[in-house]
Formats: sequence, structure tokens, C-alpha cells
Amino acid sequence: MTGPTLVTGGSGLLGLALRRLIPEAIYLTQHDGDLRDLSTAQRIMSEIRPSVVVHLAARVGGVKDNAERNAAFFEDNVLINTAVLSAARCSRVTRLVSMLSSCAFPLYSDRPTTEQDLQSGAPYDGNAGYGHAKRLLDRQIRMVAAETGWDWSSLTPVTLYGPHDRFDAESGHVVGSLIRRCWDAKASGLPLTVWGTGRAVRQFAFVNDVAKLLVSHLQKAAGPDTVIVAPDEGITIEILAKAVARACEYTGLILFDSSQPEGVPVKRLQSTRFASRFPQARFTPLNEGLKETVRWFLARHVSSADACGRAASLCP
Ligand SMILES: NC(=O)c1ccc[n+]([C@@H]2O[C@H](COP(=O)([O-])OP(=O)(O)OC[C@H]3O[C@@H](n4cnc5c(N)ncnc54)[C@H](OP(=O)(O)O)[C@@H]3O)[C@@H](O)[C@H]2O)c1
Repeated sequence: MTGPTLVTGGSGLLGLALRRLIPEAIYLTQHDGDLRDLSTAQRIMSEIRPSVVVHLAARVGGVKDNAERNAAFFEDNVLINTAVLSAARCSRVTRLVSMLSSCAFPLYSDRPTTEQDLQSGAPYDGNAGYGHAKRLLDRQIRMVAAETGWDWSSLTPVTLYGPHDRFDAESGHVVGSLIRRCWDAKASGLPLTVWGTGRAVRQFAFVNDVAKLLVSHLQKAAGPDTVIVAPDEGITIEILAKAVARACEYTGLILFDSSQPEGVPVKRLQSTRFASRFPQARFTPLNEGLKETVRWFLARHVSSADACGRAASLCP
């Protein structure tokens, strides 16, 4: 293996966390080309000639965005994944790792979902487009690995949060959007309004922890069976909102707006493979991770006119 490591989605939440750990890798953004386009992916792959590909590029969105645009999430992600994996296969890239998502899995009310469930039921309707595209990604990885014997694999982290999250009240992921809302509530003196009933159960992983696991994953052969990365058994959105309020030192009223979407009631994943794959793993406790994320958000908020977007945070 002589070529560089190529990371797609290098300007994203996870890509930026990985950049701190593997600065020598080559990181792509949409400015380098639209990876929905096969000829673009092929051109990039033949120019860079990577020996390892970390495929993170994806169209990722919050609960409302997914529910309203399932077809677009499906199309964009299928196109990106197909183009990147096809170009990597034709360039004989022998090690590739990509990210699936909890949204790809069927969910059960009486037990947590495990890796073995991935292809045994449909994903939740509200994120069916994104979820099915990730299921196809799993299939494509397996087919290439089976035909070639190459080390193509995937990880499945639960919802990520941390520095460089999208701090947008409407389109961000739940943690980034809650921090933004909390900050706005603090500034305006109005209550913090949280979408949904607050009773939905979700799991969260600090992005820097997942970046570290990704580096460790790259260091030894894995095989195509995905590994779920879920630090705990999950918390309600109400508990999360209170933890965000504490991290923001917000002491005002918290209201729940059940007219807004909240997605599936319980999403709970549990790994049957994680402990043997990552025996040394340590997860940042939620309160610590939130504090660090809020510190990061506030530093940008104070130093730039608008802290809600990733672009602002990247300005010198
Ligand atoms: N965030 C989560 O909670 C979560 C949870 C589980 C799995 N994952 C998966 O982990 C991976 C990384 O997620 P993330 O949160 O870091 O995503 P993100 O912050 O939304 O970043 C997406 C990245 O993909 C790039 N991208 C999007 N469309 C593209 C296109 N058409 N052509 C080329 N590049 C494109 C973006 O480039 P620009 O910045 O230039 O637009 C950006 O670098 C994704 O595969 C995601 O599905 C994420």
C-alpha cells in the first residue's frame, strides 16, 4: 500500500474531527467535485490514486428535512455511494471504510436493534430515503469484499454531536439545533422550545470519540460486517434538552411543541461486535461532550457575526 488516504466528506462533522487525527490524509469537499457524478469520482480517484478510502460524504439532514425529502435523500446518497465505491473498485483500492447509520435499521419496541437486523426489515418511514440508501451501501461493500477479498467495511455510529456540528434551529441535528435554540432563548428571554413531546428516545456519540475509533478501525483488517457504535442505551429528548440547558447555563422555561415532528418514538441500537472490535474504547460522558460542544459554539458565536453555520466557523 503506497498511495495516500483519501477522505470524502472532509468538511463534515466527522471529517473535520478526523482531520485532527490524520492531518496527512487528503480531504475532499463538494468544491473538489460533486460525488454524485461517476466521472467526477473516477477522475478524483485516478488523480489521487489512494490506497485507503474513508468514505464519509453523504447528504445528511435533521428529522424534518428527511421526512419532507425522502426521495432526494435516497437519490443523492445512492448516487454518491455508487460513484465513490465504483471508482474505488475500478482503481483497485483495497481498503475502504464507510459509515452506515442507525436510520438504515429496522426498529423494535421490545428490544434493541443489533447488527444482525440490518437487512431483515424496513427502516422507519420518516427517514426511509436515507435509510435505504445506507442499506444499499452495506450491500455494495459486501459484494466487493466477497468478490475481491479486499478489506471493505463500515461502522454504524448513532447520532453524532460535537464541534463543527450544524448549529441551525431548523435543519441541524438534534443536539446542534437544541444548542442553537437554547442560546437564542437565553438571548431573547423567551422559553426554549423543543420539537416533539420530549419522550422520544435517542442515542448520541461524541464525534471526537467516533473519529478515534475510525482511526483504530483503519489499523486492522475488519471484514464487511458493520459494527454499531453506541455509547449507551439512550435517553429521552427531554433529558437531553435539560442537559443542553445545563451546558448552556440556561435556567429558563423549557417547552415541548408536540405539533412539530420528532421521528420514531424509540430508536435503540446495541452492538454484538463492538466490545471485541474495540476492547480499549472509552466514551466521553454526555455532559462532558455537551460542555465541550457548547464551548466550541460560544467561541465561534462571540468571534463571528453568525455562529449557526459551519461556514462561519471555518472563517479565519
Ligand atoms: N451526523 C450523524 O449523526 C451521523 C450518524 C451516523 C452516520 N453518519 C454518517 O457519517 C458520515 C459523515 O457524516 P457527517 O455528519 O460528518 O456529515 P455532514 O457533516 O453532513 O457532512 C457531509 C459531507 O459530505 C459532503 N458532501 C455532501 N454531498 C456531497 C456531494 N454531492 N459531493 C461531494 N461531497 C458531498 C459535504 O461536503 P460540503 O461540506 O462541501 O457540502 C460534507 O463534507 C456520513 O456518511 C453520514 O451518513 C452521520
